[in-house]
Amino acid sequence: MAEVVVVGTGYVGLTTGVCFAHLGHNVVCVDTDIKKVERMRAGEVPIVEEGLAELMAQGIASGRLRFVIDAAEVLPACEFVFLCLPTPERDDGSVDMSYIEAVAGRIGPMLAANAVVVNKSTVPVGASKTVARLLGRSDVHVASNPEFLREGTAVYDFLHPSRIVVGAENNEVCARVGALYKGVDAPVIFSDPVSSETIKYAANAFLATKISFINSIANICEHVGADIHTVVDAIGRDPRIGREFLQPGPGFGGSCFPKDTIGLVTLAAEAGYKFGLLESVIEANDQQLERVVEKVRRAVGGNLEGKLVAVWGLTFKANTDDRRHSPAITIARKLLLAGARLAVFDPTVVGVVPELEANAGGAVAVAPSAVGACAGADALVVLTEWPMFAGVSPVEVAGALGNTQVVDARNLLDREAWRAAGFTYQGIGR
Ligand code: UDX
Repeated sequence: MAEVVVVGTGYVGLTTGVCFAHLGHNVVCVDTDIKKVERMRAGEVPIVEEGLAELMAQGIASGRLRFVIDAAEVLPACEFVFLCLPTPERDDGSVDMSYIEAVAGRIGPMLAANAVVVNKSTVPVGASKTVARLLGRSDVHVASNPEFLREGTAVYDFLHPSRIVVGAENNEVCARVGALYKGVDAPVIFSDPVSSETIKYAANAFLATKISFINSIANICEHVGADIHTVVDAIGRDPRIGREFLQPGPGFGGSCFPKDTIGLVTLAAEAGYKFGLLESVIEANDQQLERVVEKVRRAVGGNLEGKLVAVWGLTFKANTDDRRHSPAITIARKLLLAGARLAVFDPTVVGVVPELEANAGGAVAVAPSAVGACAGADALVVLTEWPMFAGVSPVEVAGALGNTQVVDARNLLDREAWRAAGFTYQGIGR
């Protein structure tokens, strides 16, 4: 059992703190947002994550999980400090390290000798060296321990990882960090810090590449008349390819892939390598968003000006309330810019959609239900794969819509049933 401080309580930091307490460590989570700390102290979970509320309540009840605002009161007694801070993308594609640098620059003098500062956030290759310099302590160690958590399944992913990666200057420090995961059944890989940081970027870049690859194959299927589901099923059976992450859609989004792909292209360029393959993955993703807009334009007869489009789904994927870099938001904005009005429904959205209100001037209505969003609309577009959408009756939707046109950007709906209800159905790659 170790004394652990986690700085930052976003979906990585809070999940990390709660799960380390679950593994038996004494954990203090630090956040400068006073209201957020007070809400978490009262057991309120600020993010939608399966299983987090129960583990958080257990941690608080056992006394192993606490929340504070000021790190200074807890850092001197801790053995490990996990930095789970935002590393947003800058306009030029580089990674903004200012949050991490600010904390690393401040906490050095507060730490006990032999403490380990661990980078959990996705940080640029070489960040461990930067953190060590800013800490200014030769008797404090730095390690990289990248997270491989998916939003919506972060707790499961933390407790059932396919591997644990720790990068540090020597095996003794790696082993100390690796030992925190006692109780988690997964291979532990020790490396130097730079390899560990590179592993994180390479993993996300490869996953994004799989998505852009299958979206491109889906587009070819549309042109040659093949069915993407059959193609994916057959190629995915080859263990060298694998079935995961071959689901075609509107393009990848979220707080990681868009930032990490551009971040890696920028890092590579700064290191002297032009990562053309990854640049084309990003380009293919941008084009996929446009292709969905084009399908909606076709569905309403060729011109979006003045048309009403029903939109199902605004989050970047199902089972999360996160709309950061959501393909659905990007596509909705493009439809608005083309002159369309929108009636939107997402199970996690109540009231207004700030990202859309800004440029909508009243052209966006938030509907109380999926069918409600379809009233009088010229077409329906499905942008997020919420399971509830697959259960809506196409007959009921046909009765609500002004025009039986559906663009299913997630291949979620039963195409034959919607066609039987009179719909012109456009999917992705089928
Ligand atoms: C991702 C990585 O999966 C995770 O390992 C890493 O730690 C953080 O980034 P996340 O962004 O939470 O996790 O979600 P993920 O499930 O990977 O989806 C990312 C985007 O890709 C979403 O927009 C999703 O809709 C899209 N996607 C995913 C596809 O379009 N097709 C797929 O087959 C899988």
